[in-house]
Amino acid sequence: MHSDGHAHRITLASSDQTFVCEPGDVMLRSALRTGIAFPYECNVGACGNCKFELIEGDVEVVWPEAPGWTAKDRERRRYLGCQSAPRGDCTIKMRPSAHYAPKHAPRRVSGTLTERRAITHDIEEFRFTLSDNMPFEPGQYALLTLPGVEGQRAYSMSNIDEGIVEPRELHFQVRRVPNGRGTGVLFDTLDIGMRIDIDGPYGMAYLRRDVKRDILCIAGGSGLAPMISIARGVAAEPALDGVKLHFLYGGRTPRDVCGRDMLEALPGWAERLHFQAAVSDVAPDSETVWDGHVGFVHTVAETLFGEKLRDMEIYFAGPPAMGAAIQRALIALKVPFEQVHFDQFY
Ligand SMILES: Cc1cc2nc3c(=O)[nH]c(=O)nc-3n(C[C@H](O)[C@H](O)[C@H](O)COP(=O)(O)OP(=O)(O)OC[C@H]3O[C@@H](n4cnc5c(N)ncnc54)[C@H](O)[C@@H]3O)c2cc1C
Ligand code: FES
Repeated sequence: MHSDGHAHRITLASSDQTFVCEPGDVMLRSALRTGIAFPYECNVGACGNCKFELIEGDVEVVWPEAPGWTAKDRERRRYLGCQSAPRGDCTIKMRPSAHYAPKHAPRRVSGTLTERRAITHDIEEFRFTLSDNMPFEPGQYALLTLPGVEGQRAYSMSNIDEGIVEPRELHFQVRRVPNGRGTGVLFDTLDIGMRIDIDGPYGMAYLRRDVKRDILCIAGGSGLAPMISIARGVAAEPALDGVKLHFLYGGRTPRDVCGRDMLEALPGWAERLHFQAAVSDVAPDSETVWDGHVGFVHTVAETLFGEKLRDMEIYFAGPPAMGAAIQRALIALKVPFEQVHFDQFY
């Protein structure tokens, strides 16, 4: 990727604002590192939110098969910011949007795998110690470069940045994806002591510390980590002392359910932090007795909270199908859009 070894200057056509893209970096991330509010979501070529128009210059497309890049985009010289590296100085057209102004400029650091532990039959926690500080907000994610895997993989942090703790650590909770290349390497190849490149933080679904509404966190499957980070962030934030947090975890069967022990360990558990779980499979696995909710998380959330959802701050994370169902339910209930925060897991 972008291997000419030179930094290139990128100019925004609308404003004459410029930023430098260093060797090995892409348009989107180098803009965010400079503090430019470049719209994006997934960072892995899937959502298509990071498109820009190339006015002048040449770019290398890092992943031409990226699902977010269409034939029409190619015709119109539109590229994905997260998958394009400049081949020289460029001028691009992109409309910055204040919503995307980075709270912490993303940085490239390295992380050494120090610990891993099983959470469920297919989710494990991986802990990395960082070479350098990487401040982040609860709910954000980082990009991991895994040995032998093309591109990067996005994983949300489950811990919080406590500011004073050294060495800095990032904890990820990853669901093994059958035949997945990145998760294959994480689960089967990466040994304790191995070092990888980590780039972050990214993501807009971070804890809004200035909003005093009660909170609902909905996590489906692999969406556990960012919601745990938000819950930990709420428990640690004095400004949110009076805020109640309801955590709803959705799995397919009872053996998928997790997260309760992490909430129980927090100050405020059972008083202002509450956990409930739902499974969607009506034939639970025989090993576990199930006395929780049955159904998809969006319907369970509707049953539990109904119109109260309009007065809550809602965070969710998980597979795109779950995200779409939750969004439809919240729109039908007229929950104001500004109270809903998510980054979809493509
Ligand atoms: C914002 C965000 C946060 C996420 N957080 C978590 C989390 O906390 N826990 C969790 O378990 N999962 C999380 N995911 C999903 C995770 O990033 C992976 O998609 C998942 O682990 C499957 O990866 P895989 O390599 O095993 O599967 P694969 O099917 O091999 O790869 C799928 C992913 O890799 C990208 N990709 C594939 N090929 C390339 C390439 N050549 N270049 C660049 N990208 C490529 C795809 O866009 C897709 O995102 C998150 C995803 C996003 C977008
Ligand atoms: S496709 Fe680039 S941010 Fe999603």
